[in-house]
Amino acid sequence: MKLLAIETSCDETAIAIVEIRHKQHKNTITVLSHIISSQAPIHAVWGGVVPHIAKREHQKMLVPLLTHALRESGHRIPKKKITLSEVLQKDLDAILEREPELAKHLHDTPGLFHVPDIDAVVVTNGPGLEPALWVGVNFARALSKLWGKPLFGINHMEGHIAIAFMRENIQKKNMPLKQKKRHQYTISTITYPALALLVSGGHTELVLMQKKGVFRIIGETRDDAAGEAFDKAARILGLGYPGGPAISLEAKKSVSPTAIQRPILLPRPMMQSRDLDFSFSGLKTALLYLVRDLEKHQVRVRRIRPAIAKEFQHAVVDVLVAKTLRAMHTYNVRTCILGGGVAANAELRDRLSHKIQEQFPRTTCYMPPISFTGDNGLMIAAAAYMRMQRVSSRKTKEAMHAWKTLRPDATMRLS
Ligand code: KG4
Ligand code: ZN
Repeated sequence: MKLLAIETSCDETAIAIVEIRHKQHKNTITVLSHIISSQAPIHAVWGGVVPHIAKREHQKMLVPLLTHALRESGHRIPKKKITLSEVLQKDLDAILEREPELAKHLHDTPGLFHVPDIDAVVVTNGPGLEPALWVGVNFARALSKLWGKPLFGINHMEGHIAIAFMRENIQKKNMPLKQKKRHQYTISTITYPALALLVSGGHTELVLMQKKGVFRIIGETRDDAAGEAFDKAARILGLGYPGGPAISLEAKKSVSPTAIQRPILLPRPMMQSRDLDFSFSGLKTALLYLVRDLEKHQVRVRRIRPAIAKEFQHAVVDVLVAKTLRAMHTYNVRTCILGGGVAANAELRDRLSHKIQEQFPRTTCYMPPISFTGDNGLMIAAAAYMRMQRVSSRKTKEAMHAWKTLRPDATMRLS
């Protein structure tokens, strides 16, 4: 079975094409194409993601990326023009009414009218920025209608969980050379209860899975997400966007002890509270006051910026690790997963895995490779694959008509 996965929930336009095979009681996922086009440099000028610019860029990139992905996955895109029936053209026009630029790109690329060797189209339909989600969802609806393929909407956060379970299969000894070059994965078997710490630009949540496919949010942020806190802190410190990688990099630089005249201390909000919720907005405000205070006392903030970045990162990681361990104790967790863009943070990865090893030696900890922590199409394909193992054939039949009804849900929750 081949899946085309589309992800446009924030500022990455991403497409993946994967092939899923069932062989010797084992399912393997072969990546045929995996492309991400990041808009980060465009949004950096504004200091954060601007929704209408994200929408415009997704419209611009989807058709070229799909063409590239299909070619990379071995499809020949014929030049021969196909004339669509009037009814089909009308349906496509209606689907892409809100995305005129995307509609034009598709119309001008008739090679895409030929039906490729794809069995289903899967797309992120929430949570995320609504204008950005609409573009991906409507593109997926158009392709599903055009090619007569089933369509599935996938929760973005489920994608961040699913990709953590992908294990690279390195036994490719007897494969033809062409396949050897392709990355192949298996999905690890999970022991329940499992807990996921999901940390991204829009979310910070602890998700409990008592069994396969059943999700319960047992803790979440009451204000800013961890990634958002990194982004806002980076802006205060003049470090640019995206803030997470910039803060980590800055924290690694050393500062001479004589430059720091007094200890730099930031709060660990809600770390001692008995619940499993988070709050990062106060930490950002404390950082802002600290910087203002230093400036008032004529301290050159730039000189001690690495020490400030280090303390900020330390504060966020302290809270995330403490709450995750608390949840693990409470729910007797057997598998722990780290996911989302902030999962790229080396200090978070190191400290969380170290603490789990120390305090829960029988718990398995899954973290995606850093290259898979940010938004991508592969995570949506992985979540779709895990979901498809659970859906009935009736649902698969319904998916043939989902192009009529699928809508984004910007505030979608895992449940
Ligand atoms: O999951 P993601 O790619 O997009 C959303 O779904 O939001 O997460 C993006 C977030 C950004 O806020 C970014 O600053 C943060 O992940 N991030 C990091 C690091 N790399 C990316 N935060 C901390 N440390 C990093 N190394
Ligand atoms: Zn994400």
